[in-house]
Amino acid sequence: MHEEAARGQPVPSTRWARLMNTEREQPVGVAVVGAGYWGPNLVRNFAAHPGADLRWVCDLSRAQAEKAVGRYSTVGITDDLQVVLSDPSVEAVAVVTPAATHVAVAMACFDAGKHVLVEKPLAPSVADGQLLVDAASERGLVLMCDHTYCYTPAVRAIRDLVRGGELGEIQYVDSVRINLGLVQRDVDVFWDLAPHDLSILDFVLPDDCAPMAVAAQGADPIGAGRACVGYLTLPLEGGGIAHAHVNWLSPTKIRTTIIGGSRRMLVWDDLDPQQRLSLYDTGVEKHRENPGDTRREAMISYRIGDMTAPALPEHEALQGVVGELVGAVREQRAPLTDGEAGLRVLKILEAANRSLADDGAAVKLDGYR
Ligand SMILES: NC(=O)c1ccc[n+]([C@@H]2O[C@H](COP(=O)([O-])OP(=O)(O)OC[C@H]3O[C@@H](n4cnc5c(N)ncnc54)[C@H](O)[C@@H]3O)[C@@H](O)[C@H]2O)c1
Repeated sequence: MHEEAARGQPVPSTRWARLMNTEREQPVGVAVVGAGYWGPNLVRNFAAHPGADLRWVCDLSRAQAEKAVGRYSTVGITDDLQVVLSDPSVEAVAVVTPAATHVAVAMACFDAGKHVLVEKPLAPSVADGQLLVDAASERGLVLMCDHTYCYTPAVRAIRDLVRGGELGEIQYVDSVRINLGLVQRDVDVFWDLAPHDLSILDFVLPDDCAPMAVAAQGADPIGAGRACVGYLTLPLEGGGIAHAHVNWLSPTKIRTTIIGGSRRMLVWDDLDPQQRLSLYDTGVEKHRENPGDTRREAMISYRIGDMTAPALPEHEALQGVVGELVGAVREQRAPLTDGEAGLRVLKILEAANRSLADDGAAVKLDGYR
């Protein structure tokens, strides 16, 4: 285990070089299980990554697997997971099946000695997620959760800015993820969309700024049987607050997050490729009260400075996901979005369920970290 890498720190370049020249030369043999809507994206990205050798695509529907692989590929196609698991050339498996099946499929992979990448959400409950975290740790295998957004250049830059202190103390995070979305049959809008917002929060916020509780409000105005519109409010350690708005019923698509800090504020608009990130040298400060001054306005000052748009590289997030999986397997380290990160998201989602059942009352996140 390379400890620096496990903590997300760069390891010294000479050691990287050694890794590159030896173990990392051999591509990691991988399989994708589940080739419905999302699976083909992983298939395409594994096939394109030099560090991965895509061996199998497996789906209960062989036709789905065939469609994902294409007619002229040499990648194996099967509807039988055991075929994948008994192939010694497969070192890691990506589980891209519906959330309710993640535990059964991932456990079978661990039992066969395979490293696992699991789609978000990691599992349908905290208890199930914990089973996966424990199984991976007992066997010394990698468990990575596909928190895709954490591998976008924008979120990587936000993490550096926020955790590097560029924004100062975090005052609020406001996240909107709404569009005319597919009303899912098995999960509500919180479990479908909020894992993105919650995994991004988990990734970018400093360690001393963790969510302390969650209050959830949801509505099902079309009678779908589950919340289609939802609001999550999370007080943060240090006095800030985070809010996420998720909605399947919006006529327009919005993917915007605003983070306010005591020094700077940023706006991330994921749908604006020209300017995804805007960094504002803006701040609002309360001055020490002057005992003789009774005017309320005199206590607050507004600083409105320049706005800059940091240049970001353009690359597909899933190339970063594949690269991180390959790196974690070859370097025997925890990935950036490991099972624990997946578990923290589940803890908030499960607490949100309890809050919904209690008319939106705040539910404490004891044992979040
Ligand atoms: N990271 C992201 O941005 C992102 C986006 C969309 C979906 N997802 C996640 O990906 C997962 C799959 O979602 P989807 O929308 O592709 O679902 P889907 O229903 O479109 O596809 C799932 C596929 O899995 C197959 N399958 C089910 N059980 C199986 C099993 N035991 N063995 C083999 N194949 C099996 C089904 O036949 C189906 O083809 C979910 O966890 C979802 O939350 C992630």
